Amino acid sequence: MVAPPLEMEHETATRRPLRTPRPAGGERSASAPRSASPATDRDLAIEAVGLERRFGDFVAVDKVDLAVERGKIYGFLGPNGAGKSTTTRMLCTLTAPSGGRAMVAGHDVALEPDAVRLRIGAALQATAVDLQQTGTELLRQQGRYYGLSGKEIATRLAELRGLVDIGDALDQRIKGYSGGMKRRVDLAAALIHNPEVLFLDEPTTGLDPVSRAKVWEEVRRLNRELGMTIFLTTQYLEEADALADRVGIIDRGKIVAEGTPEALKRSIGADLVLVRVDDVEAARTAVAALPVVDGVEIHGDELTASTTDGPAAVSPIAVALAEAGVRVRTLTLREPTLDDVFLTLTGNRLQEETA
Ligand SMILES: Nc1ncnc2c1ncn2[C@@H]1O[C@H](COP(=O)(O)OP(=O)(O)OP(=O)(O)O)[C@@H](O)[C@H]1O
Ligand SMILES: [Mg+2]
Repeated sequence: MVAPPLEMEHETATRRPLRTPRPAGGERSASAPRSASPATDRDLAIEAVGLERRFGDFVAVDKVDLAVERGKIYGFLGPNGAGKSTTTRMLCTLTAPSGGRAMVAGHDVALEPDAVRLRIGAALQATAVDLQQTGTELLRQQGRYYGLSGKEIATRLAELRGLVDIGDALDQRIKGYSGGMKRRVDLAAALIHNPEVLFLDEPTTGLDPVSRAKVWEEVRRLNRELGMTIFLTTQYLEEADALADRVGIIDRGKIVAEGTPEALKRSIGADLVLVRVDDVEAARTAVAALPVVDGVEIHGDELTASTTDGPAAVSPIAVALAEAGVRVRTLTLREPTLDDVFLTLTGNRLQEETA
């Protein structure tokens, strides 16, 4: 293929995974059973132990442990620069770990990278694509890299047209695609060989809400209908919350929380009352004294009161603030989000818009 203008050399490898013999057993269709891998007590599609990546002295991924069960959607959530892509690239065999180990689809990423590549698909950030190609040409090329026959490729193309909602655009040149279409064809390319494990690195960053909803639906469908394990990185807490069976939250290379979205949110408490005020210290004193309030945290000009009964706490809080002479800009009652989990653990918000 044409050398990609922007990408690093190893990024090209995502598009050229098959320097290896095709898998024993030959044809695999969307309905083919998943290849068996050595039984573990929990049947893990991805397992990382102490996984580490340093760039010089900088530790980008710091002893990360992961356990993703087969057939699940795992959300890997974190802010810019947290280490999501570096972790993903190690799991996809594109970046060598500096320490620790990882098994993906039953094979060690460092010792058996070819075996891993055959069993995974990856739609990564800023993937290299030849813009002069049509979508169909890209998918055929990708299918050939995986050793699929012309007939197999034709079958998969027909399946993928519907699966990733890409339709007629496949026959146009990629250079004319919108951002959403590019991601879609990229996803189709990652799926051409019907992988066991699919890696999606920020699949919806920069997409409008409609395109984002489509990607979510596709991810759910791939998981539900094909039983595909999906490892998805995101900066959007709603995305992790909506899609993932389990979530790992990463910050500055370290996993700071892990669990189901429900359990993570429950760890924060029942309800939150958020108040933006002009005098946070006066507000803290007034609100913390209320019996209905369990705890108070201050972040910037925002006070967060946790309580077991949000509706019952709102008016006492408003009254206490008025009596203390504190001017209230906004007052919001809501249930905890993954952003609150992140805030509690790291002191920062994952994203600006909160309520
Ligand atoms: N090849 C590299 N050389 C040096 N530093 C790197 C390299 N790749 C990543 N880093 C650094 O490692 C850290 C983690 O980067 P990474 O791309 O994994 O973050 P991320 O969570 O994917 O962020 P984003 O949400 O912006 O995609 C960053 O500080 C980044 O600058
Ligand atoms: Mg990234």
